[in-house]
Amino acid sequence: MVPIGKRALLGAAAAVLAAPARAQRSYPTRPVTMVVPFAAGGPTDTVARLVAQAMGAELGQTIVVENVAGAGGTLGAQRVARARPDGYTILLHHIGMATIPTLYRRLAYDPINGFEPLGLVTEVPMTLIARRDFPAANLEEMVQVIRREGTKLNYANAGIGAASHLCGLLFMKSMDTAMTTVPYRGTAPAMNDLLAGTVDVLCDQTTNTTEQIRAGTVKAYAVTTRERVASLPEVPTAAEAGLPNFEVSVWHGLYAPKGTPQPIVAQLNRALVAALQDQNVARRFADLGTAPVPVARATPEIHRQFWQDDIAKWRPLIQAAGQFAD
Ligand code: MLT
Repeated sequence: MVPIGKRALLGAAAAVLAAPARAQRSYPTRPVTMVVPFAAGGPTDTVARLVAQAMGAELGQTIVVENVAGAGGTLGAQRVARARPDGYTILLHHIGMATIPTLYRRLAYDPINGFEPLGLVTEVPMTLIARRDFPAANLEEMVQVIRREGTKLNYANAGIGAASHLCGLLFMKSMDTAMTTVPYRGTAPAMNDLLAGTVDVLCDQTTNTTEQIRAGTVKAYAVTTRERVASLPEVPTAAEAGLPNFEVSVWHGLYAPKGTPQPIVAQLNRALVAALQDQNVARRFADLGTAPVPVARATPEIHRQFWQDDIAKWRPLIQAAGQFAD
């Protein structure tokens, strides 16, 4: 056994030996904050916490997830757009980064030029679900109920700019009817109210709905992807259920504030790539109906192009739907 005094000396010697390596590291020297622009416990938060843990292991620093929820994901995005561009505040956001520039006429941050993309993370299917006792056995019957009851029914979403908003907008437009929209700070609290039966319908990502669908606590009518989802094989696609061309899935990406130095962007991207290769992340994503993006696509350049293309893709559809936030 090494006596305490000797142990202290050995510890001091080890610290001296380690010092040059540590002295060379200029980033990150303290915890990094990953902002999630929706409520804790929801689909974006689920993705963020898995990725943050694996990225933190790679960076040798804790990544703290901070939920800055509200206003359809714009409050959290604003927090990051306005943060010091030093790599200590990053954002995990989703398809809203492509719809918000068209949906919002006024924002207190620049939704396109305020960020440095760091890499794509994942793409998540959505599911059209309703409270457990919703009086419809399939999508066709669901549509009939919605046409009949209209605004007497409550559609939950996470505000204008949320994926659940986009899906609901497309769904209601395609049926040419409207339900009453009930906005939340994320779909975690929306799901709680769906389980309690105080709202009727929700379209949400499989990362938030898979476990409830499997447990039978909500009714699932369709997945919004071209193919069925492996983790929910019994749920038909919207096309199979009678609603062709109703496809939307939710991509997630990581961002730093505009002006973040390129070496830090590159370091955060390397940590993201390591997270995407992490077996625990891949396993958990698969359980929840998604997968990490292939690492070849997880570059800042591909992310930037994909994001710009998606802004252009959604702009005319949102303009045609004519539902904007002021
Ligand atoms: C969330 O994390 O709560 C969701 O991503 C909200 C949404 O976009 O529907």
